[in-house]
Amino acid sequence: MAVRPTHWPRALHSARQLADIALDFDCAASMPIDPAARQAMAEALTLDLGNPSSTHGKGQAGRALVEWGRGQLAEALGVAPRELVLTSGATEANALAWRGVLDPLLAAGRTPTVLTSAVEHASVRALAADYRQRGVRVVELPVDDQGQWREETLDTLVASADLAFVSLIWVHNETGVVHPVARVAHAARSRGALVHTDGTQAMGRQAIDPSMLGVDAITLSGHKFGGPPGTGALWLRPGTSLQAVQPGHQELGMRGGTENVLGIVGLGAAATTLAARLVEAPRVRRLRDRLATGLAELGGQRNAVAAPDQDSGHIAHVSFVGLDAPRLVMALDLAGLAVSAGSACASGTVEPSHVTRAMFGDGEAGRALARGAVRFSVGPHHEDRDVDRAIALTAQVVGRLRQAAAARHW
Ligand SMILES: Cc1ncc(COP(=O)(O)O)c(C=O)c1O
Repeated sequence: MAVRPTHWPRALHSARQLADIALDFDCAASMPIDPAARQAMAEALTLDLGNPSSTHGKGQAGRALVEWGRGQLAEALGVAPRELVLTSGATEANALAWRGVLDPLLAAGRTPTVLTSAVEHASVRALAADYRQRGVRVVELPVDDQGQWREETLDTLVASADLAFVSLIWVHNETGVVHPVARVAHAARSRGALVHTDGTQAMGRQAIDPSMLGVDAITLSGHKFGGPPGTGALWLRPGTSLQAVQPGHQELGMRGGTENVLGIVGLGAAATTLAARLVEAPRVRRLRDRLATGLAELGGQRNAVAAPDQDSGHIAHVSFVGLDAPRLVMALDLAGLAVSAGSACASGTVEPSHVTRAMFGDGEAGRALARGAVRFSVGPHHEDRDVDRAIALTAQVVGRLRQAAAARHW
């Protein structure tokens, strides 16, 4: 019998109203679920599946779907299915990489060095802070004001004593900068370090060939390329085995717990769209450029401008100096446009994010750039008319907020 909270229709109604927001330019946060994933999940939902670990028929039906999903993702990446540990997303995949490498070293009494960067995703920042507290030496690669690594420090950092682990973001989630991970991978691996990259934002935007990248582990997330939220994977170089965060027999002993069968079906179906997404990438870049030009005409300062091979092409990181990004994001939302702030708003005060602080510094001018930083992210579902509408809505809202700010200063 279906058990449902009595308020379900109301919850669905309000979710529908919120989800039907006119324009979504925040697809770096979550890409709309691809029709292929939606359909595959809906069809799987009609089946009466057992636990994929059960040996009976219903269990094996669940197992078949899990392995189908894994197989689709593996095929899209050109890797073997057993190289993928399926997880609940990129956050968990990042944690598996860090904890799986570092916990056994700490247990063995070693005090390893980790190389990461000043602009990692919050999930990696949190891991770095945790391991620092536990005595691990975590060194950070700094960035310049365009969000590019300051490579002059790289050789020294890679030569750090007892370098055991490297974890560097590949395509940046706030700036869209494509970092030269492959360059570090070779040098660090030759010193015996395990090299991990967070490839979450690379899916559907970069050709993903783990052997070309030269790393040992790549983090992936389903909802960044049309799969359902709460799905993802850690690719591991053949022969690499990590200590589980959650022990159990599933996922070759590296991730215990019953598999998210429906989610994995959606992840696999979304993976079948990756090649088409890559074909669309130049069109997305053109739309992003058109958007960035329009925003610049409104007085927005474009940040993180990079050469095409160092730019994912899906993000316009723009500072509206004099405005507070969280307030701007909220006003845009009310006007029907979803974007995200490059700053976090904590307890009523606007604090620049660690990324904008790393790029712009703590000086007056840098703080103004950071405070007004907004991320617009573009996807293959957008058309020219969407971009024009986004620019027009931003023009209205920015104009209104600037007038209000000017009135406050009288
Ligand atoms: C670069 C990067 N890493 C990790 C994550 C976390 O992904 P998930 O939502 O799958 O945990 C994100 C999502 O915002 C991201 O962009």
